[in-house]
Parts: sequence; structure tokens; C-alpha cells
Amino acid sequence: MSKSITAEDLNVYYGDFRAVADVNIEIAPRSVTAFIGPSGCGKTTFLRSLNRMHEEVPGARVKGDLYLDDDNIYAPGVDPVTVRSMVGMVFQRPNPFPTMSVRENVLAGHKLNGTRMSKSEADDIVEKALRGANLFNEVKDRMDRPGSGLSGGQQQRLCIARTVAVEPDVILMDEPCSALDPISTLAIEDLIADLKEDYTVVIVTHNMQQAARVSEKTAFFNIAGVGEPGKMVEYDQTSVIFNNPSNEQTERYVAGKFG
Ligand SMILES: Nc1ncnc2c1ncn2[C@@H]1O[C@H](COP(=O)(O)OP(=O)(O)O)[C@@H](O)[C@H]1O
Ligand SMILES: [Mg+2]
Repeated sequence: MSKSITAEDLNVYYGDFRAVADVNIEIAPRSVTAFIGPSGCGKTTFLRSLNRMHEEVPGARVKGDLYLDDDNIYAPGVDPVTVRSMVGMVFQRPNPFPTMSVRENVLAGHKLNGTRMSKSEADDIVEKALRGANLFNEVKDRMDRPGSGLSGGQQQRLCIARTVAVEPDVILMDEPCSALDPISTLAIEDLIADLKEDYTVVIVTHNMQQAARVSEKTAFFNIAGVGEPGKMVEYDQTSVIFNNPSNEQTERYVAGKFG
């Protein structure tokens, strides 16, 4: 549980277009790391390379090495499905399976993996995951109703419960609050603080206050211009990135001068 992530000279392509160039980063276990930067600089693309989802896009590929602890997830013979069960992902828009109940949504990952379990084992997994996502008390009387009937903020926490139910090592979140109201956003931020006790959390966010609130370290990405690859410009303690960055682009970005 909770693994470090190490990227070595990671380059991420869509066909011939290099969207992200030469990223080197080490992310500690049991931590929250924020990725910030202007739109189009490759944050989502890089995030999706961390669990081998990027290659699902036709023609997309990755060059370089990416380690979970000491295991290279891009080594020959590694099954991307196994990688994705170790590295879970939460998306911008909450995406519970619309025809499934709250309970079935939480168990969806196990079902996909073909895990066999008794009713009481399943009940335990559902309760633990929903408690882990700070959602149990709100849904305990509506377990068999559709997950899509919950509020947006509850749906996002249901998606987080679905992710933690399979006990991954890493949780990736791509702007998980961008579709949520301020109260639901705070609920997710509280939850992220709890999740880092057990998981390595990486969150892409447009909201610099959010990055400052939830993360210990922040990576700033930028692009030199249209058609140029995104690069990681600076990576440091979040307080340094926001108060005393060493790179001039970082300084201009966190001061709100572009992006
Ligand atoms: N499916 C795709 N096919 C081709 N290019 C893509 C695709 N998705 C994103 N891109 C390009 O990759 C670059 C980085 O995009 P993205 O990772 O979405 O940036 P961000 O998340 O920082 O806004 C952009 O130039 C974008 O147009
Ligand atoms: Mg994005």
C-alpha cells in the first residue's frame, strides 16, 4: 500500500506530437502532490501516463521509465490492467455507472477484476470504502438506489469510494472538483487529507488555493508555445512554489499573470 512514483526522462506522445517532454520526478508515498499549469501544458496527459491509461488513445505512446517503488510499469510484459488496479483514477466529471446502485458502483472494480466474495465480505468492502470516502452516513439508507441519483459532490465521493474499494497504491485525480460547488469541494479536500494516510495522491488542479490547501509538493508545468511540448518547469515544496519559486515562469504563473 502507498508506493513512491519515479519518472525518468518520461516523454508522452500522441502519434508524432510530443505532448510532454523529459519529465523527471520523484513522488513520495503517503503524500499529496499537485500538478498545476496553464491549459494545454500536458497535465492530464502526464497524469494518464502514470497508470498506463494514455496508451488507450489510438497512436498514443510513452517513452522513458516510470517506477512504482522499484517496479517499472513500462517494462516489457507488464499488464496495463494490473497497473490500473494499483493506480486508480478519479476524473473531472463524476462518472458513476448510471444503471448501477450505490453499492454496485462501489463493488464495480472488484466485479471487473472477477474477485469472488461472499455477501458479508462484499458488505464489509462497501462500508469500508464508503467510510473511507466520507460518504457512508449519507448513503447508508439508499445503498440499492441508483448512484446517479446522488448530488454531484456525493457522486464524486462515490467515485472515490469505487477507487479505494480495490485498495490501490496510488490515487490520481484530474481536477476532481472542477464540476462541484464550494461546499462539495471542501468535502473532497478534507477527504484528500485523509487519503494521504494510506495512499500516494496526485491531483491536477486549476485552483491554486486548492493546491496550496491540499498538497505538500507542487509541480508546475508550462508550454513554450502552441505545438511545443509541455515541460515540468519546477517541482518543490508547495510553500516554496507559491511564495518563493526559483523559476521566473513559475513566479509569473502563481502571481496570476498568465494561464
Ligand atoms: N487525444 C488527444 N489526441 C491528440 N492530442 C491531444 C489529445 N489529448 C490532448 N492532446 C494535446 O496534448 C496537449 C496537452 O493536453 P492536456 O494533457 O489535455 O493538457 P492539460 O491537461 O494541461 O490542459 C495539448 O496540446 C492537447 O491538445
Ligand atoms: Mg487537463
